Amino acid sequence: LHRIFSGLKPTGHLTLGNYLGAVRRWVAEDQHRADALFCVVDLHALTVEHDPARVRRLTRQAATLLLAAGLDPRLCTVFVQSHVHEHTRLSYLMECTASDGEMRRMIQYKEKAAREAGRGGSVRLSLLTYPALMAADILAYGADEVPVGDDQAQHVELTRDLALRFNQRYGQVFTVPRATVPRVASRVMDLRDPTSKMGKSHAETSGIIYLLDEPDTVRRKVMRATTDSGAAGDVVHDRENRPGVANLLDILAACTGGAPGDLAAGYSSYGALKKDTAEAVVEMLRPLRERHAELSADPAQVDAVLRAGAERAAALARPRVDAAYAAVGLMPPV
Ligand code: TYM
Repeated sequence: LHRIFSGLKPTGHLTLGNYLGAVRRWVAEDQHRADALFCVVDLHALTVEHDPARVRRLTRQAATLLLAAGLDPRLCTVFVQSHVHEHTRLSYLMECTASDGEMRRMIQYKEKAAREAGRGGSVRLSLLTYPALMAADILAYGADEVPVGDDQAQHVELTRDLALRFNQRYGQVFTVPRATVPRVASRVMDLRDPTSKMGKSHAETSGIIYLLDEPDTVRRKVMRATTDSGAAGDVVHDRENRPGVANLLDILAACTGGAPGDLAAGYSSYGALKKDTAEAVVEMLRPLRERHAELSADPAQVDAVLRAGAERAAALARPRVDAAYAAVGLMPPV
């Protein structure tokens, strides 16, 4: 049986990047074509400085948004990572499989460690071991596909390496997974700073579209997006030299289903492109916002989904994690 696993961490409000890079495909494709599990990975949110009340709130909000976006608990499994103990159980074995060097080579570790150090803070050890927990998330379920945005591809590569290494050393326990990345908008860029990724935990928010932004907020952010100076105001799709315009074209293409290069030909001014992009995003997010408002009024319904999801996830993961424990030589409970 084909199995899919993916997750997102509650470190901030979900963004258009999360939606176009990941969630939208989970809803439109993945939940229909495989046994799919989607997880709010709250333990991962503790790898950087955090506020307990905020993580708690964002975890519930992320779960509610996943359902509002259209994940259907009759088709897939939605749950919270910390509710299923197999993740941390297996994460330790992944730490015993990975090397210090390969963890330190992860781009996200380098970037985030530099950012934390820049703030004068210390770097949590869990930020370094993060990919071991992520590998455990995926491998515990025998997932063969991991639908993610481009920025997570390196972590999935490492997960593959760890699965192969573990299997070679201790016998065939894990399925070797692969990342799937969307064709368009695999890396949505910040609207104000189109050379960096639109990220939910950034401090400067004027270039980030949050899924729950009011329509007028979305419009304002898109209209103020940085377009590229220098060149004449013609509209071309050129990520290298015109990152701002290319980003808007990617977003518009992702919303409307066109190809970014083809869409460019239809515009002769940045203003018109921005206007259409803003409206396309507003319309795409409208049903999600409405459904989120309904579901927020009924937290018991979300709780019931998460409870059933955690039960099913634990039942799926336990035998494989038990097998991994036995394979590495740990004595089974007597
Ligand atoms: P996270 O929470 O940063 O992001 C969730 C998903 O959204 C994608 N994404 C983007 N895609 C396109 N453009 C962007 N600007 C953008 N920003 C985020 C991410 O690629 C991701 O697919 N480590 C993961 C969470 C995780 C996970 C897992 C994912 C933990 N365990 C196991 C898959 C499988 C993360 O930090 O995602």
